[in-house]
Amino acid sequence: MDFQTKTARLISEFTLDLATLRQISLDFEKAMDAGLAGQKSTLKMLPSFVGLPTGGEYGSALAIDFGGTNVRTMNVNLDGNRGARINNIRRIGLKNPVLGRDLTTEESTGEELFQFIAQELKDIPKSTKPQPLGCTFSFPCDQINLKSAKLINWTKEFKTRDTVGREINELLTSGLVYQSLEHIEVTAIINDTVGTLLAGSYQSANVDIAAICGTGHNACYLEPTHPLTGAPMIVNIESGNFDGIPQTRFDKELDLTTYNPGSQQMEKMVSGRYLGVLIGRVLQELYRDTGLPISAQLAELRSISGEDIDNILLDVAPFETIAKIFKERFDTETTAEQRQAIQKIIRAISERSARIVAATFAGIVRHIDSAGERPHVIAIDGSLYEKIPKYSEHLQNALRELLGQQNQVRTILAKDGSGLGAAVAAILAVGSADTNFCYPSPGTDVPETTMSASPLDDVSSKEQ
Ligand code: BGC
Repeated sequence: MDFQTKTARLISEFTLDLATLRQISLDFEKAMDAGLAGQKSTLKMLPSFVGLPTGGEYGSALAIDFGGTNVRTMNVNLDGNRGARINNIRRIGLKNPVLGRDLTTEESTGEELFQFIAQELKDIPKSTKPQPLGCTFSFPCDQINLKSAKLINWTKEFKTRDTVGREINELLTSGLVYQSLEHIEVTAIINDTVGTLLAGSYQSANVDIAAICGTGHNACYLEPTHPLTGAPMIVNIESGNFDGIPQTRFDKELDLTTYNPGSQQMEKMVSGRYLGVLIGRVLQELYRDTGLPISAQLAELRSISGEDIDNILLDVAPFETIAKIFKERFDTETTAEQRQAIQKIIRAISERSARIVAATFAGIVRHIDSAGERPHVIAIDGSLYEKIPKYSEHLQNALRELLGQQNQVRTILAKDGSGLGAAVAAILAVGSADTNFCYPSPGTDVPETTMSASPLDDVSSKEQ
């Protein structure tokens, strides 16, 4: 087949028209209703046992942000007036090929994983009172109350042994005891989307939906009257498991190569963990079906990195960056025409991701505000939303197509919000007055790792 025809066919396979988007959005809303009513649904609609903060909470808490293969620990002070100071941020990789460490495989146990994470809190100055700690744990959990959650299943290709079905608080607390950190009390275990929503709503008004568009994908929102309590409660939708989106043959093939075929179908179509894999497969077919020479590197390509995707999408004619990437990574010479086609294909795949996510957001907005009467702000964290060129624009455009030009829905980048959210949850659990010190903590020097007083302020200029 000639190159242009093949390119056009591939692009059309990944293009979602408005009618399809509307259908996805309606089906998502129905799946939310069913999940909330306890009926069969791919959406777990997990209770979080926490509502929104007022912004007046104050005090100090430790936080662990366990979002994926990188975990962050930090010390957070809330000032009681929507402001926060974050100190002692440390990042640790659960995978380190140089040190031969990988705590995400079946070789490691849940105990080892949490002992390793707990060790990172050793350098934070101890206090006389018990220190509350909030932990985001970014996997589906059966939440029993705010401090107690059991892992239902791993996602994002995690396979750590002896963890599914276990209480995350117990595992973490044992890890802290193992590291002689008995003064730290785990008072909240929450999903990272819930953390992002707590951080967003602590800092700004009208934030009532949050999402992660990064390695994994998920969203949560404030259910105004939760069936369990009759009161407002944040619901972790676990949207990555939604299965109401038409799959291409590439999606179906990719799904079969994952460790959990059939599950997390939406996540495998939209999130960073899988987009590079999908793109790799599409490029291989483009080369094979148009008779272009295919190098060993291209034939064996498993996944294209997020950084390469960003650079390819940023390139302009005559597309020299793409030429360089193809030469260096795949030992492949390209013509300007081929490079432009490659960019268009990758744009179609990333745009599809943004449009699917927007369709589910529209479903959430209709669920909480069917008449579209109130303003809603969606706080989003994750590399796709933050870094993929035009991702947020595609998302906004699709929201306008679905909800109308006059809709009152805004999305904001809530960079690294979930760590702050974990601390907000920890303080909500014990009550502000019961935490150790008020902001700024007396005698605390602010080290260089301190983030701005208000991480969301940081990005307000980048609001989409
Ligand atoms: C998990 C969610 C999480 C999301 C983003 C998904 O794989 O199932 O719980 O919120 O990734 O980290």
